[in-house]
Amino acid sequence: MIQLVEVLDVLRTVIEPESGRNIVRLGWVRDLRVEESGIRFTILLADPSIAFASEVSDASRDALQATFGSDTNVAVDIDSEMIGMGMDHQIAGQKNDIKPGDGVVNIIAVASGKGGVGKSTVACNLSVALAQAGYDVGLADVDIYGPSIPTMFGIEDARPKVSDQRRIIPLEKYGVKLLSMGFLVDRDKAVIWRGPMVTSAVRQFLSDTDWGELDYLILDLPPGTGDIQLTIVQTVPLGGAVIVSTPQRVALTDARKGVGMFDQVDVPVLGIIENMAYFTPPELPDKKYYLFGQGGAKALADELKIPFLGEIPLEQIIRESGDAGTPAVTDPSLPVAAVFTELARSLVDRVEFRNATGPSTQKIEILHK
Ligand SMILES: Nc1ncnc2c1ncn2[C@@H]1O[C@H](COP(=O)(O)OP(=O)(O)OP(=O)(O)O)[C@@H](O)[C@H]1O
Ligand SMILES: [Mg+2]
Repeated sequence: MIQLVEVLDVLRTVIEPESGRNIVRLGWVRDLRVEESGIRFTILLADPSIAFASEVSDASRDALQATFGSDTNVAVDIDSEMIGMGMDHQIAGQKNDIKPGDGVVNIIAVASGKGGVGKSTVACNLSVALAQAGYDVGLADVDIYGPSIPTMFGIEDARPKVSDQRRIIPLEKYGVKLLSMGFLVDRDKAVIWRGPMVTSAVRQFLSDTDWGELDYLILDLPPGTGDIQLTIVQTVPLGGAVIVSTPQRVALTDARKGVGMFDQVDVPVLGIIENMAYFTPPELPDKKYYLFGQGGAKALADELKIPFLGEIPLEQIIRESGDAGTPAVTDPSLPVAAVFTELARSLVDRVEFRNATGPSTQKIEILHK
């Protein structure tokens, strides 16, 4: 039988001419099934004209039949985001302002239960790695109490501009569009902000920003699984979450709570990343010392039946490059750059596979609870 991944590879050759992006990357392929009777999927368009939809559908069928044989049965349904995204697209009575239809295909949260495990480090390096791989990427730091992105990108003194339409124009560095709550809120004042103020500021901050066309908008969340985090993940139409943990048992216990939080709001956890997993002394490059224990995050991922995305070593250069505003992945001569590049690749695989095989109306279902 034909494999789903093979079908996806073929559909990746179907290009939307205006943007030059393939239809899998655009998140247009949904509900993909391979059955005895043939290949079936839905094309989800924000604003379908019948002519365009059937063009995409014909091109897909032609490509699939060219690969798998002209007698392969290909059934394509057309769905529109407009059906659900209008008045139905509401969470907890609030209008949701950032829609994938606005040009952002995937919004992915980087989260943890415990603080200081390397969320911001992972969010920054992953974002740059995705940009290096040719994706259009935005990174938003919604950690109002402890924003890190201005430091990690070396843009502490920069301030975003506002367009004529009164929308925030994100800054840009290393190919990533950047925005931090740290730019907008004085840190000393932020500590007295209460939960509802934080979440309404986050909503406004994300929806009033001119992100343009993005494949990925990465959110660097504040640590923990309290009210603020829960409200943020409910407010934003997240396509998925990545959980960062360190190997220690205390961190894994909190990572489990993090997974639980996303389960509660039906946001798929795309995987767990283990940070500070092992140490390799520079003079012994072939050795891996698992200082905090080995295999904990992998075991947790297996137990919770979520993917394990990979491990990141504990390296002085990761900390130094973060402090210096040049994420480690920007220097391809560092061995750890390849680790982030590989993580980004595996994240894209998960996201595209999930989008293509998941229901076309998933986001709307969340909202009807
Ligand atoms: N793999 C690593 N090797 C060495 N240092 C690291 C690594 N990952 C993160 N660090 C360092 O650990 C510190 C905490 O990392 P980071 O700020 O990314 O964590 P966080 O989870 O975002 O923290 P918070 O919960 O405060 O938001 C930083 O100084 C960072 O440079
Ligand atoms: Mg952080």
